Amino acid sequence: MKKELIVHKDPKAPVSEIFRTLRTNIQFMNTTKKLQTLLITSTLPGEGKSYVASNLAVTFAQAGKKVILIDADMRKGRLYSIFEVSPRPGLSNYLSGIDREGEEEIDISKYIQPTQINNLLLIPAGNIPPNPSELLISEQMSNLLEQLKEVCDIVIIDGTPCELVTDSVILSRIVDTTVIVSAAKETKKDSLGRIITNIKNVGGNLAGVVINKIPLSSKKYNERYYYGSKSSKSKTKRSNKETDSDKTNKATVSDEKTQDILDQINSYMEEDHSGEFEE
Ligand SMILES: Nc1ncnc2c1ncn2[C@@H]1O[C@H](COP(=O)(O)OP(=O)(O)O)[C@@H](O)[C@H]1O
Ligand SMILES: [Mg+2]
Repeated sequence: MKKELIVHKDPKAPVSEIFRTLRTNIQFMNTTKKLQTLLITSTLPGEGKSYVASNLAVTFAQAGKKVILIDADMRKGRLYSIFEVSPRPGLSNYLSGIDREGEEEIDISKYIQPTQINNLLLIPAGNIPPNPSELLISEQMSNLLEQLKEVCDIVIIDGTPCELVTDSVILSRIVDTTVIVSAAKETKKDSLGRIITNIKNVGGNLAGVVINKIPLSSKKYNERYYYGSKSSKSKTKRSNKETDSDKTNKATVSDEKTQDILDQINSYMEEDHSGEFEE
């Protein structure tokens, strides 16, 4: 397995601890309804969706949860390589139904591969199809999620980047919650605001935003996770921001929790964090 599976390779690393905190936050964010399907998306390729999705999946598996990780980035999927399993057959093959004979139901188990991690199964992306978006938003995809929910504790979907295609925004409606991965100093604030707004507009539930790839002078931390807290600190930040005259990049949304996330991100990106991670 690749060394970027840090929570497996080095469970005691500070980053692994941060992934466990992210897992705990996700587990506790919803007390009334069982949270079973989680989508990971970002604005653009390369921000760390696959890195976060795979490490998060491993932390759930380490906690004894039965996890199915789906590589839904059918254009650039590389989870098969991170977990060193066969790239196909995968999601595209299942969704396109090319293996179907007559009217029979396709046997999903053919597409789910065991990994070297206990409790963690993977559906790789499969062959690159001509119409990935169409496949992802098909009824077959929601049926797949329904069936997988019967056989595991949590399904984690490594999604597509929202600035390029709309798949993830549409998928956010059929999953229980969505995590957005952003890359420090790369992700544009207005793009981030746009995804958050788009997901809220289709009725998706947002868990929070991971700030990944924070430049380090030490290896102490390289992820952060912001989620909607109603702390007085974030409220203070919000009222400060409201007096700002420059609001050009500020996306606004109607509900308080999401606005909180957005405010925290805006504040974080505007602050100077250069010395923060030094030992
Ligand atoms: N926190 C991180 N620290 C170091 N490298 C990272 C980190 N997150 C991602 N990367 C690297 O950045 C590249 C892109 O990450 P990836 O997860 O494939 O992005 P995406 O799935 O969003 O396209 C990969 O080579 C990955 O190993
Ligand atoms: Mg990826």
